Parts: sequence; structure tokens; C-alpha cells
Amino acid sequence: MAATLPAGIPASHPAVATPGPHQPLVIIDQPTELPKPDEALVHVEWTSSTPLDLHRADGGFAIQNFPFVMGCSLAGTVVALGADEGADDTHLRVGDKVFGFVADYLPREAGVQTYSTVPTYRISKLPANLTLQEAVAVPTNLVTAFHTITTDLGLDLPWPIPENWKPAEAETTILVWGAASSVGLYTVQVLRHWGYKNVLAVASGKHHADLEKLGAAACFDYTKADVVERILAHTPSSSAGPKVPLIIDCIGSTEGTLWPLSKIAEKGSVVAVMLPIIHVHAEEDRVPEYEEDAAKVLVGEWKEGVVLKNVRTFLYAENKFYRDHLQPEVIPTLLEQGVIQPNKLRVIQGDTMLERAQTALNLLRNRAPSGEKFVWRVAEEEK
Ligand SMILES: NC(=O)c1ccc[n+]([C@@H]2O[C@H](COP(=O)([O-])OP(=O)(O)OC[C@H]3O[C@@H](n4cnc5c(N)ncnc54)[C@H](OP(=O)(O)O)[C@@H]3O)[C@@H](O)[C@H]2O)c1
Repeated sequence: MAATLPAGIPASHPAVATPGPHQPLVIIDQPTELPKPDEALVHVEWTSSTPLDLHRADGGFAIQNFPFVMGCSLAGTVVALGADEGADDTHLRVGDKVFGFVADYLPREAGVQTYSTVPTYRISKLPANLTLQEAVAVPTNLVTAFHTITTDLGLDLPWPIPENWKPAEAETTILVWGAASSVGLYTVQVLRHWGYKNVLAVASGKHHADLEKLGAAACFDYTKADVVERILAHTPSSSAGPKVPLIIDCIGSTEGTLWPLSKIAEKGSVVAVMLPIIHVHAEEDRVPEYEEDAAKVLVGEWKEGVVLKNVRTFLYAENKFYRDHLQPEVIPTLLEQGVIQPNKLRVIQGDTMLERAQTALNLLRNRAPSGEKFVWRVAEEEK
């Protein structure tokens, strides 16, 4: 491990933080931390927004200490490595352009600061066919898709994909509710690539053509009052099990998603729900309310035998294979091969990092994202 920061790297740097629930974001001064042997110091040039930013900033969701540095994703340049270059435990070199899904609950690692000290297993090298701002739209929710499909639904996504691979559940109905969300768009693409053919996508009608291109077998519009009846009419009854055995709720809204899903899931259906579950959405003059356990929501409304799963992607690295391979290898390879299309981008403008962060947060509060990812500059300059 280097004993000092490389020349030109400041001892401290600005970070965007929430000072407390429902307060405007602020800039704080963060120490620039030397990377340990399994870490890299990254000069952060781009980040992307996630609704978790809103849950943190407006709801104080799962925050023990304020001020809390924001940001689950970053893209930028490696400026120092803890290990010697060429060491077995790193796929990185100083000067590499990189991107990653990072832990915002660790201040040294969070994404919205101009220098972030990140474990190397959380970093992908930028493929030649993408820019940093395209790549930063990917890792948080592509990791979520892999984690949910394998850990919560129990499906196989072998890597590399064996020749002539066909999953046992290739024809099983998999319902992706909220398919135009960032999580949903990556989930549909991953399922298609691994040969799961019967993916039903629920999104507003304007996204249906895109979702069919990405791999959905059929699409349903959640803004129509009879969406549940249409889904049930589409799926044949089976004596062998539930009509819809596997469900991913990409949104986790008590009224908007869990309520209709409680009318679809039957004994034996597995329903994987993105946490936190949103009881009350944040508004300018309203503090949001969340729940962290799907079993405590709509109690008595679910049919007996429905299996509810709480999705917690921050735990994805408990899968040792994913810890070592998902961000270092699988994700950049899929992007380079064009298998996964990054979400459509909306670049958030603003004169300063703080202004861009606050603008993005305000848009999340207004539920502005629709089939797109907000990306924005962190450090003003490239390395
Ligand atoms: N626990 C975890 O591990 C984990 C991981 C990742 C994300 N999450 C959570 O998952 C949620 C989604 O994240 P995201 O980044 O994918 O969000 P996002 O892209 O910002 O979601 C926006 C999309 O939500 C869709 N939507 C809203 N209400 C809907 C409803 N009732 N039915 C169907 N679609 C609906 C909209 O679809 P239309 O455009 O079709 O209207 C819109 O495109 C967030 O709350 C996030 O915090 C949790």
C-alpha cells in the first residue's frame, strides 16, 4: 500500500451529502483515503441517480449518521491502486477508465465525491464501445437484476454460458412488474440472454415496443384498470402450480405494485420485491414512509403459500462468484458484446456538482424518470 497520496491528489475533496431527512443537499469536505491493497482510488467524473438517493435524502432511509455522503454509482479514472500493478488481485491499472456500483453507506466509497476509495471487485473497466456517462447508467441496476434473478428467484445464470445451454425454466412464466424502470429494463435483457422465453413485462404502453425488442414475450399496461385481469387471461391455468410462478416487483409500492400483485400471486408463486417498499412517496411538503419487509405489507391480502422475498442488492457480494466476477468481468463483457443496452440517458445540467445533485433529486421526487436514467458530472474536469 502506498504510504502517501500521489502528487496532485488533494488530501481532502468535496462530497455531496444529505445533512438530515428532507433538507437540501450540502457539500462537505471529505478526507481522500489511501487505497488498501484490494482497493483503487478513483477520480469520479460521472454518477447516475437512483430512487435510493431520494429514499436517503428525503426519508433518511437506513441512515445512522448524518451528514451522509450520497451516491451508489461512479465512473471515472483510477489515480492510485493499493496493490502493486500486475498483482493477482487486481484487473486494474492507474489511468484506466472505470465504472461501478458502490456502497453509498461507506463514506470512503460513496459515488458523489470527487475522489472515491473503492474495493477493486466493485469496479469494471470501461469497454471501448461506451462513454463514461453511458456506462455509469448500468452497474447499480444490472447488479440488481443478476442478484434478484439468482438469489431471490433461484434461477440459474451460468457464466460463461455453456454451449447449448437451455434453462429448465425456459418456458416458465416470469412477470416483471415495472419493466420500464431501470431495474426492469436490465432484468428483461438478462432473462432474454440466458434463454428465459416467457417474460411478461408490465409498463405503461409507450414502452411496449422497446420492451418487446429487448425480449419481453408480452406487455401489459399498468395504467389500465383491468391490467390484472388481462395478465390472468393471458396465462393458462395449470394443475402443476401457480399461473404466474415467478414475479419481480421492480418498484415496491404498496398501492401501485404490491396490491395488484396480491391478486395475481397464488400458492407457490415467488414474489421478489425491491426494498424499500414505498407506503407514501416523498413530496416537497411530505416526508416519505417506507417498510423493509414485504411480509408486513398487505397482511391478509396474499393467498396462502405465496413466497415473498425482500430484495437487498447490497448483499450481492455474499455470492463469492459474483463478488469476484460480476463487476470485474461479466458486466463489461456483456456491454462490450452489445448483449446489454444501457438505459437511455438524461444528462442533468447545472453549474456545480451540488446544483446537479439537487436538480436530479428534485426530479426523482417529482417521479420524472420514465424508461431512462439520470446521469450527471461529478468532478468538473477529466483526469
Ligand atoms: N432493494 C434493492 O436491492 C434495490 C435495488 C435497485 C432498486 N431498488 C428500488 O427499486 C425501485 C426502482 O428503481 P429504479 O432505479 O429501477 O427506478 P426508476 O427507473 O427511477 O423507475 C421509474 C419507472 O417506474 C415505473 N413505475 C412507477 N410506478 C409503477 C407502477 N405502479 N407499475 C409499473 N411501473 C411503475 C415507471 O414506468 P412507466 O415509465 O412505464 O410509467 C418509470 O419508468 C426504487 O424504489 C429503488 O430504490 C431496490
